[in-house]
Amino acid sequence: MGQQTKVLEKLNKNIEGIEVHFQHDFTKLSTIRLNSVGTLVIVKDKNSLCDLLKEFKNEKIEYKVLGQGANILLPEVLPWVVVQLKFDFDKSYLNEAHESYDLPASISLSVLSSHATKFGLSGWEVITGIPASLGGAIYMNAGTSLGEIGELISEVEYVDESGKIKTHKVEKNSFSYRKNNFLKKGDIVISAKLLHKGEDPKISKKIKSYLEKRNQSQPLNKFTCGCIFKNSTLGDISCRAGHYVDIIGMKGFTLGGVRVSHKHGNFLENFNGSNYPETMQLMKLLQKEMKLQYGVEFEFEVEH
Ligand code: EPU
Repeated sequence: MGQQTKVLEKLNKNIEGIEVHFQHDFTKLSTIRLNSVGTLVIVKDKNSLCDLLKEFKNEKIEYKVLGQGANILLPEVLPWVVVQLKFDFDKSYLNEAHESYDLPASISLSVLSSHATKFGLSGWEVITGIPASLGGAIYMNAGTSLGEIGELISEVEYVDESGKIKTHKVEKNSFSYRKNNFLKKGDIVISAKLLHKGEDPKISKKIKSYLEKRNQSQPLNKFTCGCIFKNSTLGDISCRAGHYVDIIGMKGFTLGGVRVSHKHGNFLENFNGSNYPETMQLMKLLQKEMKLQYGVEFEFEVEH
């Protein structure tokens, strides 16, 4: 038995709020469903997370946190341990609207979006249709054409890599396009405070019509990881990755079990048990062709 397995077995016994699963099949834990296997640690409360991260630091065990697995490409054999938060949350908290919200990182944005639709929470339309947990969305400042989640957050609580709980009060520069500027490698978001700009029945309509529009333009019923590239600029001109994949003629291009979506050029669809090497190869090919043909550099948005 490897040293890491021994340590994890010990932690599984000693830390009450964790569950360790070895040789776990991760295929269904990421939305693009690449074939993947590895070690999963489910954490049920924040004290257990603190204890776990302290031990990981002592034992030099590398880890990554996985939310809903919407914006990540998982390798075939995971070289790090995956931590997944499943904190208790009393759903009746969302039976009424509040002035501000204290929410666990593991809550799904779709639950929050339904709440926003029900009460017409102004400002919350920015998270419509994003398939992520709150923690994951904060980490990458997830957004839509309506805005970014950073606009709603006033405070973020996280555990650092030595197991200490810290609080970040959000300021002007805490977030930028698709990233946060305060979390360091190894930090795990545990909860956040969200604000809104009042209740407005027009917001519910806006959320519904945005969802309809997105359903028409994106392959939401396929296995994808959301947009693969961040949008870019060339001088002052904004360049949409989907548009550029389209004009280089690569929509529908297929490599093994993965293809560029016919519906939207910034999405890849895993239609037949694809894997990490194949998917990365296709992404690099698209990136290279867009640079060659139009001189625009597109950075990967998806974690890989
Ligand atoms: N376009 C094409 N061909 C395509 C796809 C798009 O010509 O195959 C054109 C569209 O006609 C439009 C432009 O490109 O003129 C932009 O397309 P779209 O409106 O779909 O927006 P986007 O910039 O591609 C962004 C976010 C999405 C978010 C949508 C809608 C990024 C990288 N993407 O997409 O977020 O859902 O707006 O709000 O910022 C994600 O982050 O994973 C994601 C999918």
